[in-house]
Amino acid sequence: PYAVIEGCIRCKYMDCVEVCPVDCFYEGENMLVIHPDECIDCGVCEPECPAEAIVPDSDPRAEKWLPINARFATIWPNITEKGKTPDDADAWNGKPGKEAFLSE
Ligand code: SF4
Ligand code: F3S
Repeated sequence: PYAVIEGCIRCKYMDCVEVCPVDCFYEGENMLVIHPDECIDCGVCEPECPAEAIVPDSDPRAEKWLPINARFATIWPNITEKGKTPDDADAWNGKPGKEAFLSE
């Protein structure tokens, strides 16, 4: 499956949601995650993310983030339509150290 990584935190652009054919994104306060058992590996969301925050499981960064995606996908609600992006999303795009801001 694909996984959402740190880059999504506080950006939450949600363009990914619009293209996923199986609606397998789940919404936290300031990031989304992908349910790994529901993702069909189509890959269409990856290039849609302005924060480049979606990676396939072959990416080294997925090792850390796949379990995080799996955990929150069972807790957070499903999201099927793009909502309002944070006002300061662009200011956070590409910033390092965002994991500290992950809100459960
Ligand atoms: Fe959805 Fe495809 Fe992205 Fe998986 S790879 S989350 S199925 S759009
Ligand atoms: Fe996050 Fe990128 Fe989707 S910032 S909400 S993974 S489009």
